[in-house]
Amino acid sequence: MSFLTGLPKAELHVHIEGTLEPEMMFDIGRRNGVELGYASPDEIRAAYEFNSLQDFLDIYYLGAAVLQHEQDFFDLAYGYFERAAADGVRRSEIFFDPQTHTDRGIPIGVVISGLAGAAERASSELDMSCDLILCFLRHLPANAAMETLESALDHRESFIGVGLDSSEVGFPPRLFTDVFARARSEGLRVVAHAGEEGPPEYVHQALDLLGAERIDHGVRSLEDPGLVERLVADQIPLTVCPLSNVKLAVVESMSDHPLATMIDAGLLVTINSDDPAYFGGYVGKNYEAVANALALDDSVMARLAKNSISASFLDDISKTSLLSEIDAYVAS
Ligand code: ADE
Ligand code: ZN
Repeated sequence: MSFLTGLPKAELHVHIEGTLEPEMMFDIGRRNGVELGYASPDEIRAAYEFNSLQDFLDIYYLGAAVLQHEQDFFDLAYGYFERAAADGVRRSEIFFDPQTHTDRGIPIGVVISGLAGAAERASSELDMSCDLILCFLRHLPANAAMETLESALDHRESFIGVGLDSSEVGFPPRLFTDVFARARSEGLRVVAHAGEEGPPEYVHQALDLLGAERIDHGVRSLEDPGLVERLVADQIPLTVCPLSNVKLAVVESMSDHPLATMIDAGLLVTINSDDPAYFGGYVGKNYEAVANALALDDSVMARLAKNSISASFLDDISKTSLLSEIDAYVAS
């Protein structure tokens, strides 16, 4: 096993619907009688050419339509947890998009029970702990997000936090201020996508108006020196997704990725996969890709893994224990 694969790490930015591999999409689609319009998994994979976030989202929401039953959601999530465990992931906080399913008539309880069941099984059978973060689709109105939150609260014990995803530009965080206040009043943890395609101002809004404890992506923060200073001073974690950034043309190529600049600036950056079934690799491949393209040595990569543990929503005792495991792994 390579150094990077064996390195204990947390994955903090992965959309569970984005782990739906073409083979599983094809099989579950057939089992549920959903016509995808593709003759084979290879044909599905061949359609994965994106020029922007929206290009990708259009295909991603179509693929998710094969998911209908609790077992489908369980199979999807458990398959991801197994692949993550094989990549050295010891803590996984997965995003799910209930509105993608409830808008097709799937009850939110079916979605949450399937995913939470898989997280529970993985936490007991794999060498990792797992939790769920519910994301609101920001291209839909804030009142739909509020209704989603209220119905999800019937399953409050099954998820630990809320996030904000989907089409970014034109859908600023400030639109969701009330929903996030309601979520915080329930003791939910808060994250938000910002600064992927959207401007640094959206990162400020996510922090000031939503109470975000981590920023998902955040790469465009570099355009605002005052914002960088703030993120460094407060050690706000950024969940960066390198292969995603290349595939969605947020950066031109991996060697142009600003990750090294972000590390040098003192930002608390972590490496994640976003939608690995669509972007060419799980978290281990993302670690490898940046290490190779940016010539980051083992000590920098170990620092990134430690950042992922510190930035997680684990309790302090579990963090301390995983951080010492990383030190022991590096020393051996
Ligand atoms: N949903 C799934 N992947 C996403 C991304 N990279 N940005 C915003 N929403 C998403
Ligand atoms: Zn994302």
